[in-house]
Order: sequence, then structure tokens, then C-alpha cells
Amino acid sequence: MEKTLILIKPDAVIRGLNGAIIDRFEKAGLKLVALKMLQLSKEMAGRHYAVHAGKPFFAGLIEYITSAPIVALVFEGDKAVELARKTMGATDPAKAGKGTIRGDFGENIERNSVHGSDSPENAGIEIKLFFSGFEQMDYQLKK
Ligand code: RTP
Ligand code: MG
Repeated sequence: MEKTLILIKPDAVIRGLNGAIIDRFEKAGLKLVALKMLQLSKEMAGRHYAVHAGKPFFAGLIEYITSAPIVALVFEGDKAVELARKTMGATDPAKAGKGTIRGDFGENIERNSVHGSDSPENAGIEIKLFFSGFEQMDYQLKK
């Protein structure tokens, strides 16, 4: 079954939106299989966002993502990556639909409340950065 890495970003954590955001993914049919709260070091943030190194928004992004704790989550499900991205909405909250996490909670294009893996391949890489195999649970959801 496909897995995806979700991060609840600092803007959402400091506004007490953890439960509301987890609820959106669970209501979308995704199964929570791992979670932890942590504050990223600049080094770890740089590794997670390595693809954006050199872009004009990179320094600001690293500053922001390390500014307060985040919550890291792994969700599992059929087409989990695509389903989670749909549940999150567009990168820019101004362009994200109503009813999506970023549309309802995001503050601006940087402070957009959540991160989600953009491909199953990247999900595998990102999940390994945050969780060991022992931290990922295996259980059946009761229908
Ligand atoms: P994410 O990786 O966080 O799930 O977001 P995404 O795929 O929708 O967007 P991506 O292009 O990967 O950008 C990563 C994060 O960088 C911040 N950003 N700031 N100031 C800007 O123009 C700008 N553009 C992107 C956002 O926090 C975005 O989620
Ligand atoms: Mg991305």
C-alpha cells in the first residue's frame, strides 16, 4: 500500500490546528501509521527541501520551517500521495479551493500549513528521513 509523508508546518502548529488537520486526512480515507513532533535543525530542513536550494525563497523557507515545532506524519492508502495532495490543495492558499487544508488554514504561499510528498518515490525518501521502520505501524482500520 502507498505511503506519503505529511508535515504540519510551524504556522499551523502554533495556531493549535494539529487535530483539525489530521482529521482532514483521516476523513479523506487515509490511515495514520506514524507521527511525531519535532523542531527541525537548519541542516535537516536543508536536506528535506534540497530540491529548492538556490531558489529565491529557499533561505526564507528554511528560516520559517525551523522557527517552531512541526508534526511529522505518515499516512497510508490507495494512491496516498495524490489523495493527500488533493486534500491539501494548491501550494498558494489564495489559489487553493475552499474545503482544502491550505484553502481553509494557510496564511500565504510560504506559511501554507502542510507539506505533502509529491511522488511515491519522493515519499519513500522523505519518510526515511523522519521515521525508522519500527516507528511505522501496521494495523487494519475498522470499517
Ligand atoms: P510542499 O513541498 O511543502 O508540500 O509544497 P508544494 O510541493 O506544494 O510546493 P513546493 O514548490 O515544493 O514548495 C515548497 C514550499 O516552499 C514554500 N514556498 N514559498 N515564497 C514562495 O514563492 C514560495 N514558494 C514555495 C512553501 O512553503 C511551499 O510549500
Ligand atoms: Mg513540494
